[in-house]
Amino acid sequence: MRIGIVCSGGDAPGMNAALKKFVDVAHYLGHEPYFIYDGYEGMIDGKIKKAAHEDVSGILHRGGTIIRSSRSKRFFEYKYRKQAYDNLKKEGIEHIIVLGGDGSFRGLNVLSGEFDISFTGIPATIDNDISFSDYAIGVDTALNVIRDCVDNIRDTASSFRRAFVIETMGRECGYLAAVSAVANGAEICMIPEIKFDWEKNKNRLKEEFENGRSYMIAIVAEGCDATQKMAKWIEESFDIEVRITVLGHVQRGGKPTVQERLIAGEFVYEALNNLDKKNMVVVRNGVNYDFVDIKTLTSTPYKLDEKVLKLLNFLD
Ligand code: F6P
Repeated sequence: MRIGIVCSGGDAPGMNAALKKFVDVAHYLGHEPYFIYDGYEGMIDGKIKKAAHEDVSGILHRGGTIIRSSRSKRFFEYKYRKQAYDNLKKEGIEHIIVLGGDGSFRGLNVLSGEFDISFTGIPATIDNDISFSDYAIGVDTALNVIRDCVDNIRDTASSFRRAFVIETMGRECGYLAAVSAVANGAEICMIPEIKFDWEKNKNRLKEEFENGRSYMIAIVAEGCDATQKMAKWIEESFDIEVRITVLGHVQRGGKPTVQERLIAGEFVYEALNNLDKKNMVVVRNGVNYDFVDIKTLTSTPYKLDEKVLKLLNFLD
């Protein structure tokens, strides 16, 4: 069977490892692997090419994606989806594997409802906001990048009497902020999923400052849209100088971690060995993989792992 692979939405470290495994396993199983370049934009413009082993040699350790990605507005329009389908048909592609988030899965689900093409979704987003899956490709690397950044900031924060407010990515999901706050021992963590208790935090930290605390780190998820507000509140509450660091796209880059490379490979392996499970998403829980129907997945909101919330003292 001719199978295409495409990256859609924000790139994530580990996508290249997934592309390499895709070519290797597809060949092994007797399929013909195709790369769809530039995300759904490239699908519309016919940027589709048969993938060979040489295309994926020396890419496993690199962040980003060698086939690039895009956020396609045109794909929302039927005429462009038809154009994309015609391009796929011309190449004889019958099935697509998409590395992306739930918005990308939804897009392909519309395409497969309109035309004779099936797909498998593989969660790949540093946001880790795919329901039914406790992991998405890119998350471990992003967390390690954030760990290094916050460790570095702590060095300078502790050398002054200063507070740092660090904003992490994640859209509406607080996963990156929450895990980083635990792993980096931040004094404050603010995420969209939990109402921030200003009073309780003020009392707790006031006491700590009275007992000798000289600096602090606050991690705020971008989805709270409260980075400036947090900085102002800290300055006013604790009479301490504040600096803001918005980590931004640095979180999306970097060499994929060992865990990332292994898991990316496993996701692809599962997808290619279960091509009969059409229009489903591979999900990972613990060390196990399963498939969830696209409609169920996209209609169920993501819930942040309670184990992480417990470690943040957000749950009793
Ligand atoms: O979805 C991944 C992500 O990095 C989000 O965390 C962030 O809000 C967004 O993409 C940024 O998008 P862009 O790269 O288009 O600026």
